[in-house]
Amino acid sequence: MTSTTTGRPAEPGGDEDERDAPAAKAGDPFDRDDLPTPSGATGRLLASLLRPMRGRVAVAALIILLQQAAVQAGPLLVAYAIDSGVPAFRDHDYGPLIAVALGYALCSAGAGALQYAFVRMSARVSQDVLIDLRGRIFRHAQALSVDFHERYTSGRLISRSTTDLESLRELLEEGLQELIYVILSFASIAVILLWLDLATGAAAVASFLPLYLLVRLYRKRSAVIFAARSTAIASVIVKFAETMNGIRPVQAFRREPVNDAAFRELNARHRGTNGDAMLENARYVVGSRLVANTAVAGIVLWGAYRVASGDLALGVLAAVVLYLRRLYDPIDRLSMFLNSFASAAASVGKIAGLLAQTPTVPEALEPRELPARAGGEPGREVVFEGVSFAYRTGGEVLPRFDLTLPAGQTVAVVGSTGAGKSTLAKLLARFYDPTEGRVLLDGVDLRNLATPELRRGVVMVTQEAFLFSGTVAENIAIGRPEASREEIEQAAKAIGAHDFIAGLPDGYDTDVRKRGGRISAGQRQLVAFARALLADPAVLILDEATSSLDIPGERAVQQAMDTVLHGRTAVVIAHRLSTVEVADRVLVMERGRIVEDGAPAELIGGTGRFAGLHRAWRESLA
Ligand SMILES: Nc1ncnc2c1ncn2[C@@H]1O[C@H](COP(=O)(O)OP(=O)(O)O)[C@@H](O)[C@H]1O
Ligand SMILES: [Mg+2]
Repeated sequence: MTSTTTGRPAEPGGDEDERDAPAAKAGDPFDRDDLPTPSGATGRLLASLLRPMRGRVAVAALIILLQQAAVQAGPLLVAYAIDSGVPAFRDHDYGPLIAVALGYALCSAGAGALQYAFVRMSARVSQDVLIDLRGRIFRHAQALSVDFHERYTSGRLISRSTTDLESLRELLEEGLQELIYVILSFASIAVILLWLDLATGAAAVASFLPLYLLVRLYRKRSAVIFAARSTAIASVIVKFAETMNGIRPVQAFRREPVNDAAFRELNARHRGTNGDAMLENARYVVGSRLVANTAVAGIVLWGAYRVASGDLALGVLAAVVLYLRRLYDPIDRLSMFLNSFASAAASVGKIAGLLAQTPTVPEALEPRELPARAGGEPGREVVFEGVSFAYRTGGEVLPRFDLTLPAGQTVAVVGSTGAGKSTLAKLLARFYDPTEGRVLLDGVDLRNLATPELRRGVVMVTQEAFLFSGTVAENIAIGRPEASREEIEQAAKAIGAHDFIAGLPDGYDTDVRKRGGRISAGQRQLVAFARALLADPAVLILDEATSSLDIPGERAVQQAMDTVLHGRTAVVIAHRLSTVEVADRVLVMERGRIVEDGAPAELIGGTGRFAGLHRAWRESLA
């Protein structure tokens, strides 16, 4: 398989495809119909998938070779029957005809059995290849960094591991069999024809040239069409996933008609590419039949003339006619192979492009350990050293800054929406690496920390507290799967989640995805809190982690804060300034800059921004 068909053709409108990621810079490859496939990646991917199966592939090839030999023996036997068997029969020698009949029956039965063996074998090989590839896609996508997922979207990933894999399956299970069948029957029939009668054989072989040109043209054109088709079906899935993921805002803002229209258009585009594919296929079939029929007519006429003038035995002409029919028969099937090839090449190209992505936040090559934390030592020191940051898709969000958070300090970060608070937190949790500078945890660059060590050391609780399928207890224990039930309950009690959990149908064993297990956004946040507390990280980041709680709920968490924050370094980002009261230090951020930095009392007493904010907040409470 060559990679020539996998290059992304620049089809018109391609740059609008599959786009639902946040606004991207011009020329961003994510904004195009898909990621670029490095040259040769498709071939390398297929080779790496088939290498472990090479033994079985070889056996399958042998089986299909034998099967073809059995199939192609048929007309030869017919020629023998006509030219030798029938004359012998007239002389009352029945042996040759009986031998032919037996041979014919044996060949047919053998061909059937071999065909069965081949289908079974190729189905197994293709299943193994697909399972391997689907696993690779999942593992690879899961390992890619957050910024990849923000741009590639889950819809496209779903499309890669469903429709794209499906087209590879078609190629492996049906297409390749067609190809082997076509090549073998072309080759064997050509040889037999040349052997039966050199002149006819040569004429038949000559007709391969126009057929070859036709195939080449078809391949080139269908590659473009199938790449567009794979993109079109992916956009349909992307739109589908986006709409259903956002079903609440969709219904709340009555986006249904707009979505309907957009979906209709994507659907129509998909149908259009299917139509193009069929039309192209029809052109090919008509063209190839024209060539084939012309060749057959010419060869038969010429053969008849030669039989009449005694140059050619009638039996040979009969065999020639039979073989010619068989010779051109697979041409329609060749187009089926070409279809599945083009479709699979486009799909595998996209999968290869995905698998070629590397995490933008890569795993440390030579990971370093964090220095041991002496018993009772509170948290770890965090240093932002000459850090600046820009998301890939936008301008600078955090201009260069330095910041040291001593071990054990509780730091509140306040500032208006979009000021860069969450970005700061995400750098500390290493969801992104700084554009410039380093983030150090007890003197170790986060880039040099092994991921498990980093995730144990730094835990972030965000607004969108996510629950995995499973029980409440399992969800709390995610950060420390070995935790006992007592420890889980203790953590839940510490943040005031125990009462509501105990009230669920099965208590801690309630499945959060099942009926009765549905819990509110605020309760989800409590579970996330308990999870963080149980994980017991050296550095805890709370990013608006209490925003969904009601006032009593927040007060309960507020009271638990001392327990939660004790003995660790904490960064608390909060809308409600009540949180600030537990902090040792307050940072005020504005447009990516830290504009105020000091103890709460000091800032409240001053004349800066925080003093103003705090006054306004106090007044709002009164
Ligand atoms: N994933 C992202 N990709 C691109 N820009 C982002 C992303 N997340 C946030 N931003 C931008 O970065 C800036 C700071 O955002 P953020 O740190 O979330 O602010 P805050 O948490 O203070 O509300 C905003 O201008 C926002 O648009
Ligand atoms: Mg934020």
